Formats: sequence, structure tokens, C-alpha cells
Amino acid sequence: ETTLRAAAAKAGLFFGVAASPGRLSSIVAQEFNQLTPENDMKPSTIATSSGGLQNTGNADTLVNYAQSNNMLVRGHTLVWHSQAGALQGASQATLNTFIGNALTRWGNRIAYWDVVNEALDDNNTGARRTVWPHTLNRDANGDGDLFDAGDTDVIRDSFIRAKQVVQANGLSTKLCINDYDVEGLTVQGGTPNRKANALYDIVRTYRQYIDCVGFQAHFNDNPNSIISNDLQANIQRFADLGVEVHITELDIDDDLSNNDIGQGQADNYRKVVRACLNVAGCTGITVWGIADSESWRASERGLLFTGGNGNYQKKAAYTAVLDELNKG
Ligand code: G3I
Repeated sequence: ETTLRAAAAKAGLFFGVAASPGRLSSIVAQEFNQLTPENDMKPSTIATSSGGLQNTGNADTLVNYAQSNNMLVRGHTLVWHSQAGALQGASQATLNTFIGNALTRWGNRIAYWDVVNEALDDNNTGARRTVWPHTLNRDANGDGDLFDAGDTDVIRDSFIRAKQVVQANGLSTKLCINDYDVEGLTVQGGTPNRKANALYDIVRTYRQYIDCVGFQAHFNDNPNSIISNDLQANIQRFADLGVEVHITELDIDDDLSNNDIGQGQADNYRKVVRACLNVAGCTGITVWGIADSESWRASERGLLFTGGNGNYQKKAAYTAVLDELNKG
């Protein structure tokens, strides 16, 4: 196959991209069969303070484009401490209202929703974040987890609400939890990845409400999880819980120091694709933008194309991904 989407489809995956309406040039539908709104479905754009919807124009444009081009949509994102907009500080009841409004607004036109995004703390602690909405959490018996009947857990309660809405409306939309630094079983130096382990415990505990897990995969040069080959093992253990696993925001820093014209980056891309292809439950990969120049981390040149504004050139990383997908 000669496009990412065709090669991925043959291998049983979707291959997607994050975009905003201004980036919908012909390459998007040619190369990708899944679309994630990079910013236009965040609460900061679409939520009112009472959990209603506003400013859905850009989101609609993206959903309509995806629909006319046979692309899946990943809704991004409902419950998130960042870019919360009018929902900042909201109660669980208001979050629940918003979850209901957003899920029913687009219904089955959205295949996957990131219901909860980036709920876990940084620095490999394995703890929840301590900022809103996680300030709603209560560890009733003080045993250090939020898994007991008397506990309050914004993750659990948001997923319970989302699942209720899906079921009450007969939707097939799948409900995902998404995070970064959860990709490998270990972090640099071979230390266990406590953040990944915490995510695993959450998914295992709330499995009845959670359908899918997103590994963002904003990788630095030679990320430990790729070098140590424990990305695939980590994908596998989540898949073994019965959830779909997705690589949701892939970009890989290009090492400028080794002067290899992107070959190291291409090899790293190849390994990520291979890890997903090797696990049946890994059902899709999404890159976080089209061209380096248009990326949130432009200086790290982490994507598959150079160029910009609809005029794109393929990098070695593109060729590596296509080749690996074509191996199936
Ligand atoms: O659109 C406005 C523009 O009108 C204004 O002039 C300009 C001035 O700053 O800002 C523009 O908005 C920016 C927007 O990107 C669109 O370019 C925001 O300031 C900027 O904060 C926003 O950044 C986004 C970031 O999320 C915000 O958290 C990035 O595009 C987006 O790639 C990034 O995506 C996140 C995922 O949602 C979650 N995971 C991590 C990932 C990378 O940070």
C-alpha cells in the first residue's frame, strides 16, 4: 500500500492525526483514517460553566470532514485539569452534565472519547494529581487508594456517568482514559514505571466502565520504553485486561546531535508501530500533527512530514512507518 491509512487498514489498525480546521488539506484524508481535534473539543473551547455546550463550530467542521472521508473521530477531551475553561473548579455533578451533553451531541460520529485525560501525577509517583478536578477525590478510610466503596474518585465517577450515557442512548462510542509517561513498563534506569502501574490498577479496577487506554507517546530521543522494548509488553498487559490500547499523540524527538538525517527517529517510529502491530488489542496509532513546523513541539521535529500549509514532504520516519505497516 502507498498510504498510511491503506497500509494500516490492511493490518487491522487505524492510523490517525490530530488537526484543527485550518490544517484540513488533502493530505489528511489521503494519509489518515482517524482524526483527533487537537484543541477544538477541549472544555476550554466547548464547555459552559453549567456543563452545557458552546462554540462547537470547529468541532463540527472536524467531525463532518472525518465523516465524509471515512475517518474515525477521537473526542479529546472531557475531564482534564488543563484547558478546563469554564469548567475549572466544577463539581462532579457539573462534569456529569457536560459528559452527557458532549457524548449525546455527536453520538456515534465519535468512535472514541478521551473521558479522562492526564489524571496521574508527574515524576513517576503513581499518585493522582492534586489539582482540580482531583481535589474532588476523597480517600474515606485513609488507606491510600480510592478503590473502596466509600471513596470518591473523579475518574471512577466520570466513567460511570459516561457509561450510563452510552448505554441509555444505545451508543457504540468507546470510553478511553489517556495519559503520558505511561508507555513503558520501566523508566530510564530500569526503575518500574509507577505511573503506568497506577494506570493499570485503575483500568483493572474500573474495567466495566473503561473500553480503551491511550498512551500519548510524546517521546524524547531514544525513549527508554522503546530502547528497552518494554512498550510492547506494557501494551500487552493492558490489552490482556480486555481494553483496546491506542497510541494517541505520537511524536518522537529527532536527535540533532547524531547527524543521521532522521534515521534514528525513523527507527524509533518503526519500533512503536511494530509494538502495536504485535499486540492484537492495539488497534490504532495517532500522530500529534502533520508537519514538524506545525507541531506543539516544532523545534524537536517529531512528526512524519516537513513543510507546512498543505505543502508537505515525507521524512524518513514516514517511509519507516509505511514500510512497517505494510509488513502487517
Ligand atoms: O488559537 C490561539 C491564537 O488565536 C492565539 O493567538 C495564540 C496565542 O498564544 O494561541 C492560540 O491558541 C493556542 C493553541 O494551542 C492553538 O495553537 C494555545 O495558546 C496553546 O495553549 C494551545 O496549545 C495546545 C496545548 O495542547 C494546550 O495544552 C497544543 O496546540 C496542543 O497540541 C496540546 O495538546 C496536548 C493534548 O491536548 C494533551 N496531551 C499533551 C498535548 C501536548 O501538550
